[in-house]
Amino acid sequence: MGIVIKNAEQIQGIRDSSRLAGKTLLMIAEYVKEGVSTAQLDKIIEEYIRDNGAIPAPLNYNGFPKASCISPNNIVCHGIPNDKTILKPGDILNIDVTTILEGYYGDTSKMFTVGDISDKAAQLIENTKHCLNLGIAQVQPNNSFGNIGFAIGRYAKAKKYSVVYEFCGHGIGLEFHEEPQVEHTARRNSGPRMKPGMIFTIEPMINVGKPKVEIDQFDGWTARTIDGELSAQFEHTVLVTETGVEVLTDVSGEY
Ligand code: MF3
Ligand code: CO
Ligand code: CO
Repeated sequence: MGIVIKNAEQIQGIRDSSRLAGKTLLMIAEYVKEGVSTAQLDKIIEEYIRDNGAIPAPLNYNGFPKASCISPNNIVCHGIPNDKTILKPGDILNIDVTTILEGYYGDTSKMFTVGDISDKAAQLIENTKHCLNLGIAQVQPNNSFGNIGFAIGRYAKAKKYSVVYEFCGHGIGLEFHEEPQVEHTARRNSGPRMKPGMIFTIEPMINVGKPKVEIDQFDGWTARTIDGELSAQFEHTVLVTETGVEVLTDVSGEY
């Protein structure tokens, strides 16, 4: 199969789905507060996506039971929304939304905070967002995919963080996970080269402590840091254009 080059019609469909995913994260912000369960947030997310004519991609994906992934504190990714996880002051959490609109996929996630958070947590969030931006800055025709991971890995290491290597970004658009795997720590100039029309995610997971994750043995999904330390993640879906990059899920024009 290889890396799919999307045509103009497909790009517009993926752009529309990506914008809905991005808008979903903007929409949920006001509900993220002390006393709310992650299951309640998930329900609001699912309703919003369906009201907009789309389907939440995680639901039933390889058996995943909910519409979104919500991953607080030491959970690296794939946290399952539930009634027992109730937000409390000091929490940081990633909410990851993937939409299917007219058959096209868009995937994005960001960090949210509850009440006052520690300086350590605030710095982790800020630096992880910067890691995503450094990765996006590498997106242009002919650059190698490895340079995304090289830029992210170099910065994270300079800040004394570790980069999760067991989960990667991915091609996306016609399916949830397509080729290639987009590594967040890699050798300079390694991997395939980017071409106009390629669409993929960049979604670095950055840890305060060790990089390794442990998957929950009961639910088979929840990925936690092995040392219980904090982890953060930001994700965008990006398109390689003739001249550089379009960040398809960036609805607030932040990038
Ligand atoms: N949205 C996640 C990603 O960025 C994938 C979640 S898979 C699920 O790739 F099954 F957990 F939803
Ligand atoms: Co993704
Ligand atoms: Co995602």
